Amino acid sequence: MATVLTLAGDGIGPEIMAQAINVLKRVNETFDLGLTLEEGLIGGVAIDATGEPLPEETLTRARAADAVLLGAVGGPKWDAIERSKRPERGLLKIRSALGLFANLRVAKLYPQLANASSIKPEIIKGLDLLIVRELTGGIYFGEPRGIRTLENGEQQGYNTMVYSTSEIERIGKVAFELAQTRTAASGNPARVCSVDKANVLEVTELWKQTITKMQQADYSDVALSHMYADNACMQLIRDPKQFDVMVTGNMFGDILSDEAAMLTGSIGMLPSASLDEAGKGMYEPCHGSAPDIAGQDKANPLATILSVAMMLRYTFKQEAAAQAIEQAVSDVLDDGLRTPDILDKTEAGLTQVGCQQMGEAVLAKL
Ligand SMILES: NC(=O)c1ccc[n+]([C@@H]2O[C@H](COP(=O)([O-])OP(=O)(O)OC[C@H]3O[C@@H](n4cnc5c(N)ncnc54)[C@H](O)[C@@H]3O)[C@@H](O)[C@H]2O)c1
Repeated sequence: MATVLTLAGDGIGPEIMAQAINVLKRVNETFDLGLTLEEGLIGGVAIDATGEPLPEETLTRARAADAVLLGAVGGPKWDAIERSKRPERGLLKIRSALGLFANLRVAKLYPQLANASSIKPEIIKGLDLLIVRELTGGIYFGEPRGIRTLENGEQQGYNTMVYSTSEIERIGKVAFELAQTRTAASGNPARVCSVDKANVLEVTELWKQTITKMQQADYSDVALSHMYADNACMQLIRDPKQFDVMVTGNMFGDILSDEAAMLTGSIGMLPSASLDEAGKGMYEPCHGSAPDIAGQDKANPLATILSVAMMLRYTFKQEAAAQAIEQAVSDVLDDGLRTPDILDKTEAGLTQVGCQQMGEAVLAKL
């Protein structure tokens, strides 16, 4: 029997997770998935309970589980703690310990939300792009790192951006293969855009060379283009539909995927998957713990609910159950239900709802 470990975390984490768990339990029954759900601690709540942002017990259970569903971690309560013990370190540690090197973020515009985006509707109508971000390497993990005192007494902060060929190849493979899968589903030509800064960073020069060699050797059916990260930021706003799959390193992917989130109206709509080489994964919304709205029933649970759909698709290969959840989300949007982050006050016929009511509405459609 397969196990899902749920880690609600901090801030709005427990609110959005409660709704996602209800949805998961419902499809578990309806589609007879045979999943067992467990709960565990991560982030600030784990620090409060055990002194560690990622307790050993959580890691052991995460390793044993087939998939992990995460809410969000962090908040002002823990911001003064020494950096290596902060909630966010728990997140970096679990990703790295589980070998979750591939982060998939789909930026898909629900047509019902075209007006919630700050971009003109004609630019984003029909948008459906996938950002494949390398998650366990690059500058977020490279050594040496730290803050040191120089001989002249001045302080200096430093980090190291490193990628080896094998790290680039395994994330490149994910991107090329997903482009092939997507083209099979959509009928559109398979396209990958690799984002780098090869004009100034040697590490991304190797990235560019490696991705190019892979395409020439094994993926000639996929059209490959390259773009500098600064231009990619600009092009995502100017003409996002030129992209299908974007592949990039950890830091550029972090930035570009948040930017892509805003194309779709709200970061509260964006799910993500982080996969290891065997397809085991951790699934989470792209947003953080939103301390500004925590405990007020204002959070949008849809990104977490859509993360459940991704989990069923990528780890459990349950496409029908995944699609049922995505359809239920689309149906509640059709009904005009909106959490505050996706509410367009100028549009008629919409009803503002809270986190719980939104979750219950999705459940009612399943
Ligand atoms: N994966 C994670 O757990 C993760 C990711 C990013 C930030 N964080 C942590 O979260 C805390 C807050 O960070 P931040 O403010 O930079 O980012 P954030 O994503 O938490 O919030 C940014 C803005 O988006 C809004 N928002 C986020 N999720 C929402 C949702 N589901 N529904 C409606 N509105 C939503 C927030 O209210 C806020 O205005 C920090 O401690 C940060 O370290 C955690």
